[in-house]
Amino acid sequence: MKITISQVSEYVDQEVTIGGWLANKRSSGKIAFLQLRDGSGYIQGVVVKEDVGEEIFARAKSITQESSLYVTGIVQTDERSPFGYELQVKNVEIIHESVDYPITPKSHGTDFLMDHRHLWLRSKRQHAVMKIRNEIIRATYEFFNNQGFVKIDPPILTGSAPEGTTELFSTKYFDEDAFLSQSGQLYMEACAMALGKVFSFGPTFRAEKSKTRRHLIEFWMIEPEMAFYDFEDSLKVQEDYVSYIVQSVLQNCKLELNTLGRDVEKLEKIKAPFPRITYDEALKFLHKQGFSDIQWGDDFGAPHETAIAESYEKPVFITHYPTSLKPFYMQPDPEREEVVLCADLIAPEGYGEIIGGSERIHDFELLEKRIEEHKLSKDTYNWYLELRKYGSVPHSGFGLGLERTVAWISGVEHVRETIPFPRLLNRLYP
Ligand code: 4AD
Ligand code: MG
Repeated sequence: MKITISQVSEYVDQEVTIGGWLANKRSSGKIAFLQLRDGSGYIQGVVVKEDVGEEIFARAKSITQESSLYVTGIVQTDERSPFGYELQVKNVEIIHESVDYPITPKSHGTDFLMDHRHLWLRSKRQHAVMKIRNEIIRATYEFFNNQGFVKIDPPILTGSAPEGTTELFSTKYFDEDAFLSQSGQLYMEACAMALGKVFSFGPTFRAEKSKTRRHLIEFWMIEPEMAFYDFEDSLKVQEDYVSYIVQSVLQNCKLELNTLGRDVEKLEKIKAPFPRITYDEALKFLHKQGFSDIQWGDDFGAPHETAIAESYEKPVFITHYPTSLKPFYMQPDPEREEVVLCADLIAPEGYGEIIGGSERIHDFELLEKRIEEHKLSKDTYNWYLELRKYGSVPHSGFGLGLERTVAWISGVEHVRETIPFPRLLNRLYP
């Protein structure tokens, strides 16, 4: 019976064949331990010379790291193994021999690992991070489907630039100029007017010259948009959503969190509601902490966000930023025009901003004025303005950056490990 490692619990005491790769091996004169992986999991194959005979034993001992194999044996429960099972090997068939695999169990530098990303993905740690990424995506669809949202896909090639015009990748679109999407939001607003509550999940592109542990050039964003939701209603969705994905990972990725050495007690505390502070309160706090040169109207940088986040065990919303710091579409606070009805959600433990969101301007004249003030082309945004012409309603939405969220929940230091093939400043290979 050919099975995957994830299925072994159903085959205890039975003979099975598993196709896999050799992750590692230990052996003596009489016994060899093969650490096998097949993508679905890990299992140890035990080869006893007395049981399999000289020839098979010699073959098992000679297998090199990352050779591909079919291993046949009897599944046995094993309390000492973190996976609970081992394979009493009867036969080993080498499919393809891997010679001089570059990523050995010794440690390697970051550049070397990044140059070998196509192979590095096979390592236990990277496997665990990708499984957690997958669980967050799965839980995202589950959460929004349960809440009556419709998944809808905004375009990737666009003519508009919701988050400002300085960080765009431009390309030729036949005779026109086009950009790679930096956010699907504006299109999602149109979709919310058609379908009520919608969410998107797709790649976004920012030509940011930032070389930090939080910045990717290409990253994936989840962007919900809700008709008839005000700013407060949207915060509630955000805290429920983030709690849901964290609790889903805790429940379904125990092994992976353990592999990564993640402190799960910290994650267990991530339950709605989340604390909220205004920009003004945050600024006061920063001044007290000794950040004396930051003034009202300045944006917060990574050290500021980290200092604020350190006061909380949960993610914290920073609300009501100065209007001048934020994009043209955000709804000003009716009681205080110099701030907008927006919030950034800052993750704990120094992982920074994972969500940016706001209530959107729904008044035609005000939006038109803001487009002019931002010197944006009226022709490009005509369709967006038109949404405010025919039955405009208050609405809100937000964008969650998947890779920063994966980094935080997995406890990995840098976003480069949270996406299969990271695009970074100066890195397009592999
Ligand atoms: O705050 P941002 O720029 O917001 C928007 O794009 C809105 N249009 C979203 C919306 O309201 N629909 O980006 C949202 C999130 C950030 O909080 C961050 O998590 C992530 O996207 N992000 C990045 N992640 C990795 N690398 C980058 N260069 C990122 N830029 C933003
Ligand atoms: Mg932001």
